[in-house]
Amino acid sequence: SQNDIHHAFGGVYPEFASRAHIYNVLPVVHQALVESGVDKSALRAIGVTRGPGLVGSLLIGVNTAQALGAGWQLPVVGVNHLRGHLRSAELEGQPVSYPAVVLLVSGGHTLLAYMKSRYEIALLGETRDDAVGESFDKVGRMLGLDFPAGPIVDRHARAGKVTVEFPRPLLHEGYEFSFSGLKTAVMRCMEGGLETNIDNISASFVAAIVDVLIYKCLKALRQTRAASLVMVGGVAANAQLRARATELCAQEGVTLALPPVKWATDNAAMIALATWDYLDQDIYPDLTPLSRLPLNAY
Ligand code: KG4
Ligand code: ZN
Repeated sequence: SQNDIHHAFGGVYPEFASRAHIYNVLPVVHQALVESGVDKSALRAIGVTRGPGLVGSLLIGVNTAQALGAGWQLPVVGVNHLRGHLRSAELEGQPVSYPAVVLLVSGGHTLLAYMKSRYEIALLGETRDDAVGESFDKVGRMLGLDFPAGPIVDRHARAGKVTVEFPRPLLHEGYEFSFSGLKTAVMRCMEGGLETNIDNISASFVAAIVDVLIYKCLKALRQTRAASLVMVGGVAANAQLRARATELCAQEGVTLALPPVKWATDNAAMIALATWDYLDQDIYPDLTPLSRLPLNAY
Protein backbone atom coordinates (compact mmCIF):
# COMPACT_ATOMS: atom_id res chain seq x y z
CA SER A 1 0.00 0.00 0.00
CA GLN A 2 1.13 3.53 -0.76
CA ASN A 3 -1.48 5.13 1.48
CA ASP A 4 1.14 6.49 3.90
CA ILE A 5 2.78 8.39 1.04
CA HIS A 6 -0.48 9.95 -0.19
CA HIS A 7 -1.97 10.75 3.23
CA ALA A 8 -0.61 14.28 3.32
CA PHE A 9 -2.12 15.16 -0.07
CA GLY A 10 -5.66 13.98 0.58
CA GLY A 11 -5.51 11.86 -2.58
CA VAL A 12 -3.13 9.93 -4.81
CA TYR A 13 -0.22 12.15 -5.89
CA PRO A 14 0.68 10.78 -9.35
CA GLU A 15 4.39 11.60 -9.34
CA PHE A 16 4.94 9.94 -5.97
CA ALA A 17 2.81 6.98 -7.01
CA SER A 18 5.08 6.29 -10.00
CA ARG A 19 8.21 6.57 -7.88
CA ALA A 20 6.83 4.24 -5.24
CA HIS A 21 6.07 1.74 -8.02
CA ILE A 22 9.70 1.83 -9.14
CA TYR A 23 10.93 1.07 -5.63
CA ASN A 24 8.35 -1.57 -4.82
CA VAL A 25 7.45 -3.51 -7.93
CA LEU A 26 10.35 -6.00 -8.02
CA PRO A 27 10.43 -6.64 -4.24
CA VAL A 28 6.65 -7.30 -4.36
CA VAL A 29 6.99 -9.77 -7.25
CA HIS A 30 9.84 -11.49 -5.40
CA GLN A 31 7.86 -11.63 -2.14
CA ALA A 32 4.80 -13.03 -3.91
CA LEU A 33 6.87 -15.86 -5.39
CA VAL A 34 8.58 -16.64 -2.07
CA GLU A 35 5.38 -16.54 0.02
CA SER A 36 3.34 -18.59 -2.45
CA GLY A 37 6.09 -21.17 -2.75
CA VAL A 38 5.57 -21.18 -6.53
CA ASP A 39 8.69 -21.61 -8.62
CA LYS A 40 8.82 -19.31 -11.62
CA SER A 41 9.27 -22.34 -13.90
CA ALA A 42 5.61 -23.13 -13.07
CA LEU A 43 4.32 -19.77 -14.37
CA ARG A 44 2.40 -19.66 -17.63
CA ALA A 45 2.24 -15.93 -18.26
CA ILE A 46 2.68 -12.53 -16.67
CA GLY A 47 -0.50 -10.49 -16.33
CA VAL A 48 -0.16 -6.74 -15.88
CA THR A 49 -2.71 -3.94 -15.68
CA ARG A 50 -2.64 -1.85 -18.87
CA GLY A 51 -5.42 0.53 -17.81
CA PRO A 52 -7.48 2.37 -16.78
CA GLY A 53 -5.34 4.25 -14.29
CA LEU A 54 -2.51 6.71 -13.80
CA VAL A 55 -0.29 6.36 -16.86
CA GLY A 56 2.97 6.92 -14.94
CA SER A 57 2.26 3.98 -12.65
CA LEU A 58 0.92 1.79 -15.47
CA LEU A 59 4.13 2.38 -17.44
CA ILE A 60 6.27 1.07 -14.58
CA GLY A 61 4.11 -2.04 -14.34
CA VAL A 62 4.05 -2.74 -18.07
CA ASN A 63 7.79 -2.13 -18.46
CA THR A 64 8.60 -4.41 -15.56
CA ALA A 65 6.30 -7.13 -16.89
CA GLN A 66 7.92 -6.92 -20.32
CA ALA A 67 11.41 -7.16 -18.82
CA LEU A 68 10.43 -10.15 -16.68
CA GLY A 69 8.63 -11.72 -19.64
CA ALA A 70 11.77 -11.40 -21.79
CA GLY A 71 13.99 -12.74 -19.01
CA TRP A 72 11.76 -15.65 -18.03
CA GLN A 73 10.49 -16.30 -21.57
CA LEU A 74 6.85 -15.85 -20.66
CA PRO A 75 4.05 -14.14 -22.60
CA VAL A 76 2.89 -10.80 -21.16
CA VAL A 77 -0.86 -10.13 -21.02
CA GLY A 78 -2.12 -6.54 -20.69
CA VAL A 79 -5.24 -6.73 -18.51
CA ASN A 80 -8.14 -4.29 -18.10
CA HIS A 81 -8.19 -3.33 -14.40
CA LEU A 82 -12.00 -3.33 -14.42
CA ARG A 83 -12.08 -6.93 -15.64
CA GLY A 84 -9.91 -7.74 -12.65
CA HIS A 85 -12.50 -6.22 -10.30
CA LEU A 86 -15.27 -8.17 -12.08
CA ARG A 87 -13.47 -11.44 -11.32
CA SER A 88 -12.53 -10.55 -7.72
CA ALA A 89 -15.72 -12.09 -6.32
CA GLU A 90 -14.50 -15.52 -7.45
CA LEU A 91 -11.07 -15.38 -5.77
CA GLU A 92 -12.70 -17.06 -2.79
CA GLY A 93 -16.15 -18.57 -2.90
CA GLN A 94 -18.46 -19.98 -5.51
CA PRO A 95 -18.29 -19.31 -9.26
CA VAL A 96 -20.72 -16.54 -10.25
CA SER A 97 -24.07 -17.73 -11.69
CA TYR A 98 -25.01 -15.97 -14.90
CA PRO A 99 -26.76 -13.88 -16.03
CA ALA A 100 -25.52 -11.43 -13.41
CA VAL A 101 -25.95 -7.79 -12.54
CA VAL A 102 -22.64 -6.21 -11.56
CA LEU A 103 -22.18 -3.17 -9.35
CA LEU A 104 -18.59 -1.91 -9.58
CA VAL A 105 -17.91 0.79 -7.01
CA SER A 106 -14.35 2.05 -6.54
CA GLY A 107 -12.33 5.23 -6.22
CA GLY A 108 -12.34 5.78 -9.97
CA HIS A 109 -15.53 4.03 -11.14
CA THR A 110 -19.18 3.61 -10.34
CA LEU A 111 -21.13 1.53 -12.78
CA LEU A 112 -23.82 -1.07 -13.25
CA ALA A 113 -23.36 -3.76 -15.85
CA TYR A 114 -25.13 -6.84 -17.10
CA MET A 115 -23.13 -10.00 -17.70
CA LYS A 116 -24.86 -12.65 -19.76
CA SER A 117 -21.87 -14.94 -19.32
CA ARG A 118 -18.34 -14.54 -18.01
CA TYR A 119 -17.21 -12.95 -21.28
CA GLU A 120 -20.30 -10.99 -22.34
CA ILE A 121 -20.55 -7.63 -20.60
CA ALA A 122 -22.92 -4.75 -21.33
CA LEU A 123 -22.81 -1.44 -19.49
CA LEU A 124 -26.19 -0.41 -18.01
CA GLY A 125 -25.09 2.94 -16.64
CA GLU A 126 -22.32 4.79 -14.85
CA THR A 127 -21.67 7.96 -12.87
CA ARG A 128 -21.93 11.31 -14.57
CA ASP A 129 -19.46 12.90 -12.15
CA ASP A 130 -17.79 11.59 -8.96
CA ALA A 131 -17.23 7.91 -8.33
CA VAL A 132 -18.66 6.66 -5.02
CA GLY A 133 -15.21 6.05 -3.50
CA GLU A 134 -14.16 9.54 -4.58
CA SER A 135 -17.25 10.92 -2.88
CA PHE A 136 -16.36 9.04 0.34
CA ASP A 137 -12.83 10.43 0.16
CA LYS A 138 -13.97 14.01 -0.47
CA VAL A 139 -16.57 13.98 2.29
CA GLY A 140 -13.99 12.40 4.60
CA ARG A 141 -11.61 15.22 3.81
CA MET A 142 -14.29 17.78 4.74
CA LEU A 143 -14.68 15.91 8.00
CA GLY A 144 -10.92 16.17 8.57
CA LEU A 145 -10.25 12.47 8.04
CA ASP A 146 -7.16 10.89 6.46
CA PHE A 147 -6.97 9.52 2.92
CA PRO A 148 -8.40 7.11 1.89
CA ALA A 149 -11.36 8.12 4.01
CA GLY A 150 -13.81 5.44 2.85
CA PRO A 151 -13.01 2.91 5.60
CA ILE A 152 -12.91 5.65 8.28
CA VAL A 153 -16.26 7.14 7.22
CA ASP A 154 -17.57 3.57 7.28
CA ARG A 155 -16.46 3.19 10.94
CA HIS A 156 -17.96 6.56 11.95
CA ALA A 157 -21.22 5.69 10.19
CA ARG A 158 -21.52 2.46 12.16
CA ALA A 159 -21.28 4.46 15.40
CA GLY A 160 -23.80 7.11 14.32
CA LYS A 161 -27.51 7.62 13.59
CA VAL A 162 -29.20 8.96 10.46
CA THR A 163 -30.17 12.50 11.48
CA VAL A 164 -30.00 14.34 8.14
CA GLU A 165 -32.01 13.48 4.99
CA PHE A 166 -29.40 13.98 2.29
CA PRO A 167 -30.58 13.86 -1.34
CA ARG A 168 -30.74 10.54 -3.23
CA PRO A 169 -29.44 11.82 -6.59
CA LEU A 170 -30.96 10.47 -9.86
CA LEU A 171 -32.83 7.81 -7.89
CA HIS A 172 -35.55 7.33 -10.47
CA GLU A 173 -33.48 8.09 -13.56
CA GLY A 174 -32.34 4.88 -15.17
CA TYR A 175 -29.00 3.42 -14.27
CA GLU A 176 -26.92 6.57 -14.18
CA PHE A 177 -25.46 7.98 -10.98
CA SER A 178 -24.40 11.41 -9.78
CA PHE A 179 -22.67 12.01 -6.47
CA SER A 180 -21.13 15.48 -6.70
CA GLY A 181 -24.30 17.18 -5.40
CA LEU A 182 -24.37 14.94 -2.36
CA LYS A 183 -20.89 16.12 -1.39
CA THR A 184 -22.11 19.73 -1.64
CA ALA A 185 -25.14 18.88 0.50
CA VAL A 186 -22.86 17.50 3.21
CA MET A 187 -20.75 20.67 3.05
CA ARG A 188 -23.85 22.91 3.40
CA CYS A 189 -25.07 20.84 6.31
CA MET A 190 -21.74 21.27 8.09
CA GLU A 191 -21.47 24.98 7.30
CA GLY A 192 -25.02 25.59 8.45
CA GLY A 193 -24.34 23.76 11.72
CA LEU A 194 -27.34 21.52 11.03
CA GLU A 195 -25.46 18.51 12.36
CA THR A 196 -21.99 18.60 13.90
CA ASN A 197 -21.54 15.03 15.07
CA ILE A 198 -19.14 13.23 12.70
CA ASP A 199 -20.73 9.84 13.38
CA ASN A 200 -24.20 11.11 12.49
CA ILE A 201 -23.04 13.01 9.39
CA SER A 202 -21.25 9.85 8.24
CA ALA A 203 -24.28 7.65 8.95
CA SER A 204 -26.58 10.05 7.04
CA PHE A 205 -24.17 10.29 4.10
CA VAL A 206 -23.67 6.52 3.89
CA ALA A 207 -27.45 5.95 4.10
CA ALA A 208 -28.00 8.24 1.09
CA ILE A 209 -25.27 6.53 -0.98
CA VAL A 210 -26.35 3.01 -0.09
CA ASP A 211 -30.04 3.76 -0.78
CA VAL A 212 -29.18 4.88 -4.31
CA LEU A 213 -26.85 1.94 -5.03
CA ILE A 214 -29.25 -0.68 -3.65
CA TYR A 215 -32.30 0.80 -5.40
CA LYS A 216 -30.56 0.68 -8.78
CA CYS A 217 -29.36 -2.88 -8.16
CA LEU A 218 -32.93 -3.91 -7.33
CA LYS A 219 -34.23 -2.31 -10.50
CA ALA A 220 -31.53 -3.96 -12.63
CA LEU A 221 -32.07 -7.39 -11.03
CA ARG A 222 -35.81 -7.24 -11.72
CA GLN A 223 -35.49 -5.86 -15.21
CA THR A 224 -32.84 -8.32 -16.37
CA ARG A 225 -34.10 -11.31 -14.31
CA ALA A 226 -30.49 -11.99 -13.36
CA ALA A 227 -29.52 -15.01 -11.27
CA SER A 228 -27.01 -13.12 -9.17
CA LEU A 229 -25.67 -9.78 -8.04
CA VAL A 230 -21.91 -9.26 -8.19
CA MET A 231 -20.69 -6.39 -6.02
CA VAL A 232 -17.02 -5.43 -6.41
CA GLY A 233 -14.54 -2.54 -6.02
CA GLY A 234 -13.15 -0.77 -2.96
CA VAL A 235 -16.52 0.54 -1.79
CA ALA A 236 -17.85 -3.05 -1.75
CA ALA A 237 -15.85 -3.23 1.50
CA ASN A 238 -18.45 -0.92 3.08
CA ALA A 239 -20.29 -2.59 5.96
CA GLN A 240 -23.67 -0.95 5.34
CA LEU A 241 -23.56 -1.68 1.60
CA ARG A 242 -22.62 -5.33 2.25
CA ALA A 243 -25.47 -5.73 4.74
CA ARG A 244 -28.05 -4.13 2.46
CA ALA A 245 -26.89 -6.15 -0.56
CA THR A 246 -27.21 -9.34 1.49
CA GLU A 247 -30.79 -8.40 2.45
CA LEU A 248 -31.65 -7.42 -1.12
CA CYS A 249 -30.45 -10.70 -2.59
CA ALA A 250 -32.27 -12.77 0.03
CA GLN A 251 -35.47 -10.82 -0.71
CA GLU A 252 -35.11 -11.20 -4.49
CA GLY A 253 -34.01 -14.84 -4.33
CA VAL A 254 -30.74 -14.27 -6.19
CA THR A 255 -27.18 -15.16 -5.18
CA LEU A 256 -24.81 -12.49 -3.98
CA ALA A 257 -21.21 -12.68 -5.18
CA LEU A 258 -19.26 -10.42 -2.85
CA PRO A 259 -15.49 -10.64 -2.36
CA PRO A 260 -14.05 -10.66 1.15
CA VAL A 261 -13.02 -7.10 2.13
CA LYS A 262 -9.34 -7.67 1.26
CA TRP A 263 -10.20 -8.63 -2.35
CA ALA A 264 -12.69 -5.76 -2.78
CA THR A 265 -10.01 -3.08 -2.80
CA ASP A 266 -7.29 -3.06 -5.46
CA ASN A 267 -5.11 -6.16 -5.47
CA ALA A 268 -2.97 -8.20 -7.86
CA ALA A 269 -4.74 -11.52 -7.25
CA MET A 270 -7.80 -10.33 -9.19
CA ILE A 271 -5.56 -9.31 -12.10
CA ALA A 272 -3.97 -12.78 -12.07
CA LEU A 273 -7.42 -14.41 -12.19
CA ALA A 274 -8.53 -12.15 -15.05
CA THR A 275 -5.30 -13.02 -16.91
CA TRP A 276 -6.56 -16.61 -17.23
CA ASP A 277 -9.59 -15.31 -19.15
CA TYR A 278 -7.27 -13.71 -21.68
CA LEU A 279 -5.15 -16.87 -21.98
CA ASP A 280 -8.24 -19.07 -22.36
CA GLN A 281 -9.44 -16.89 -25.24
CA ASP A 282 -5.97 -16.27 -26.70
CA ILE A 283 -6.29 -12.51 -26.31
CA TYR A 284 -3.11 -10.44 -26.08
CA PRO A 285 -4.04 -6.73 -26.12
CA ASP A 286 -1.67 -3.97 -27.04
CA LEU A 287 0.56 -3.14 -24.07
CA THR A 288 0.36 0.64 -24.36
CA PRO A 289 -0.90 1.93 -20.99
CA LEU A 290 -4.22 3.78 -21.19
CA SER A 291 -5.64 6.17 -18.62
CA ARG A 292 -9.15 5.32 -19.85
CA LEU A 293 -10.40 1.93 -20.91
CA PRO A 294 -14.07 0.96 -21.21
CA LEU A 295 -15.44 -1.93 -19.19
CA ASN A 296 -15.98 -4.21 -22.18
CA ALA A 297 -12.53 -3.60 -23.69
CA TYR A 298 -9.88 -6.27 -23.17
O1 KG4 B 1 -11.03 -0.44 -5.88
P1 KG4 B 1 -10.18 0.48 -5.08
O2 KG4 B 1 -9.25 -0.12 -4.06
O3 KG4 B 1 -9.30 1.38 -6.00
C1 KG4 B 1 -9.74 1.89 -7.22
O4 KG4 B 1 -9.64 1.15 -8.25
O5 KG4 B 1 -10.23 3.03 -7.20
O6 KG4 B 1 -11.16 1.52 -4.36
C2 KG4 B 1 -10.66 2.52 -3.49
C3 KG4 B 1 -11.83 3.33 -2.96
C4 KG4 B 1 -11.38 4.53 -2.14
O7 KG4 B 1 -12.08 5.66 -2.58
C5 KG4 B 1 -11.75 4.16 -0.70
O8 KG4 B 1 -12.06 5.27 0.10
C6 KG4 B 1 -12.96 3.29 -0.94
O9 KG4 B 1 -12.65 2.53 -2.09
N1 KG4 B 1 -13.24 2.39 0.19
C7 KG4 B 1 -14.37 2.43 0.95
C8 KG4 B 1 -14.21 1.44 1.96
N2 KG4 B 1 -13.01 0.83 1.78
C9 KG4 B 1 -12.42 1.43 0.70
N3 KG4 B 1 -15.46 3.20 0.85
C10 KG4 B 1 -16.43 3.01 1.75
N4 KG4 B 1 -16.37 2.10 2.76
C11 KG4 B 1 -15.29 1.30 2.90
N5 KG4 B 1 -15.22 0.41 3.89
ZN1 ZN C 1 -9.66 -0.65 -8.64
